[in-house]
Amino acid sequence: MNYNEMLENARTRSGPYCKACLVCNGRACGSQMPGPGAKGCGDTAIRNFEAWKKLRINMDTLNVNAAPDTSFRFFGHAMKYPIFAGPVGAVNLHYGDMLDDMRYNEILVSACADAGIAAFTGDGTNPEVMRAACRAIAYCGGNGIPTVKPWDEETLREKFALVRDSSSFAVAMDIDAAGLPFLADRNPPAGSKTVGEMAEIIREAGKPFIIKGIMTVRGAHKAKEAGASVIVVSNHGGRVLDQCPATAEVLPAIADAVGKDMMILVDGGIRDGVDVFKALALGADAVIVARPYVTAVYGGAAEGVQLLTEKLGGELRDTMKMCGVSRIEEISREQLFELR
Ligand SMILES: Cc1cc2nc3c(=O)[nH]c(=O)nc-3n(C[C@H](O)[C@H](O)[C@H](O)COP(=O)(O)O)c2cc1C
Repeated sequence: MNYNEMLENARTRSGPYCKACLVCNGRACGSQMPGPGAKGCGDTAIRNFEAWKKLRINMDTLNVNAAPDTSFRFFGHAMKYPIFAGPVGAVNLHYGDMLDDMRYNEILVSACADAGIAAFTGDGTNPEVMRAACRAIAYCGGNGIPTVKPWDEETLREKFALVRDSSSFAVAMDIDAAGLPFLADRNPPAGSKTVGEMAEIIREAGKPFIIKGIMTVRGAHKAKEAGASVIVVSNHGGRVLDQCPATAEVLPAIADAVGKDMMILVDGGIRDGVDVFKALALGADAVIVARPYVTAVYGGAAEGVQLLTEKLGGELRDTMKMCGVSRIEEISREQLFELR
């Protein structure tokens, strides 16, 4: 199977909403929720994608002729690329019932581990989703990151017990999920947390904690105050609030404010290895790619994940070489044309 065949397969296997487009840019699915689209007029997902494309990079080819090193370390774990597959929940609802969340995470987690990267898993109102995700992560020696929703105290305690059993190297919470239409007024209850409540949650989790859904310097400072080790600059792909800025637009200020104290991941419309390079240049330590991994699993299961990962990683390596960069840590704003 090649990459295009994987996409063709996904077109016949995904439900009515995802078109498995050649480039996943938020246009064909627009405001389609249920579906992989975005909230309201749907333009935050489109803006995420387009903001990366507006940035231009500087070629610098008078250099040593050697393959750049794309490796990255995350809480002591060696990864082939600074790329994670993103958490996606309710795949049957949004992408079609060929898979449910349990089977989806099982395929994704082990395929990412085999591809030399790691997957975040999503969460849902069905408790079996987190149980199965944690089992899949445990099976891969802890190579994966469960993402819990901002539930009430009792539910979180149950979920964290599962997370600890998975021996995952970290745990994440999509704090922005408070804005998800599907979660409003559901049981168990989920919603926003204060800095004090979050500090308590992080203590209870007992693992390096990742807060996903930070879009301002103020939010980043609050996450740091609460004790998070990592933040994900993310607007949930436009699914929780309409008419947000793109993640690429807010990342530089957030990286300047807290980048020396915490690790920063970013997601939203990152679709090729050049985008990955730009995200690192703006101050991220690594990136998350979400929707394209769903397409890869629907279109090619583990092989699809391998194809997508090698496509992204190969493009990153190529960009590093063409920009005269030999290691991930050397990527900086120096290599961006517009920001100099
Ligand atoms: C159908 C769908 C379900 C999602 N479910 C979750 C989830 O359960 N937890 C979470 O943290 N993010 C979830 N996300 C958000 C993604 O992890 C990611 O932040 C967002 O899609 C932006 O990345 P992308 O543009 O690469 O897709 C979901 C996104 C989609 C499209």
